[in-house]
Amino acid sequence: MNPLLDVERLSLGIRRGKAYLSVVDAIGFQIQTGEMVGILGESGCGKTLTALALMGLLPPGVRITGGAIRFMGRDLLNLSERERCAIRGNEISMVFQEPMSSLNPVLTIGRQIGEPLVLHGRKNKRLIHREVLDMMDKLGLPEPAKLITAYPHQLSGGMRQRVMLALAMMCKPKLLIADEATTALDLSTQAQILRLLERINRDLGASILFISHDLALIRRLCDRVLVMYAGKILEEGTVEAVFSNPLHEYTKGLIGSIPQQERKGKPLLSIPGTVPSLDEKPPGCPFAPRCGKASAPCLVRFPDPLQVTPGHQVCCVTPEGETNG
Ligand SMILES: Nc1ncnc2c1ncn2[C@@H]1O[C@H](COP(=O)(O)OP(=O)(O)OP(=O)(O)O)[C@@H](O)[C@H]1O
Ligand SMILES: [Mg+2]
Repeated sequence: MNPLLDVERLSLGIRRGKAYLSVVDAIGFQIQTGEMVGILGESGCGKTLTALALMGLLPPGVRITGGAIRFMGRDLLNLSERERCAIRGNEISMVFQEPMSSLNPVLTIGRQIGEPLVLHGRKNKRLIHREVLDMMDKLGLPEPAKLITAYPHQLSGGMRQRVMLALAMMCKPKLLIADEATTALDLSTQAQILRLLERINRDLGASILFISHDLALIRRLCDRVLVMYAGKILEEGTVEAVFSNPLHEYTKGLIGSIPQQERKGKPLLSIPGTVPSLDEKPPGCPFAPRCGKASAPCLVRFPDPLQVTPGHQVCCVTPEGETNG
């Protein structure tokens, strides 16, 4: 069966003078229908730009420098802007970290949730109103009839994010991208949003690309995880495989830095060093300068993905040694 989304050697560049500096470098991954996939990585590694490239919404000064994005077999990079618009919001939609900046302060919640239907050509106001209530109900938003007449500033951050999810789901997209959608929320609200995403996946059948630098959230929600660092995917596998048997030193470092009950009172383990800036990325593995196990080849060439068990792959020259040690 064809994957829902197929990203092949996608590269993105940021304009610096006349040149483009590589920010995302030949990444590839697939999302199957109904799957929940997480992208995990430190700040600045290219997660949001990758998501924006999938949406066809890259900011000025950032462009696709290579590769392909196929969605349901269609080549998204060779569509007209009109065809692209028909897909955006309708078949792929996205929610961001700060819902307040995506909501219009002077329009009611109901009007905004119904907006995607209007944008995609629906006219009958009564039917739109009914569908808005129906979606709010499906997603378990409390008191839809009251909420529909409220304005964004009257709602809590968690409630605004629920509204954004209802809005994103109005046209029943097949893929929902959630970019740090729970980051600004307190723990109990975070848990509610995760349950909502599970519901969207289970009841509405949408695949979800969940972007976060929070390992625990990805572990709880996703089926599979892509570990990203400085524009590269270093490791990929089921959540179970990657968290129980991390193969890349970077993944091990991230997992080692989760605060754990038994480490209470002791300092957090973290990876020494910092993410390289765009101008100083090394030619080989971008993690090599911070990797305790790096050897000469790591500094020269980025290794091809090595499949270690079915579906669990890593880009590292010495992953097996690590699994034994
Ligand atoms: N519009 C832009 N113009 C120029 N550079 C940008 C732009 N957006 C992002 N960048 C740079 O591209 C790199 C990747 O950014 P991106 O936002 O994709 O990171 P991220 O992985 O989403 O990080 P975070 O976890 O902080 O959200 C960063 O170095 C960032 O400074
Ligand atoms: Mg981001």
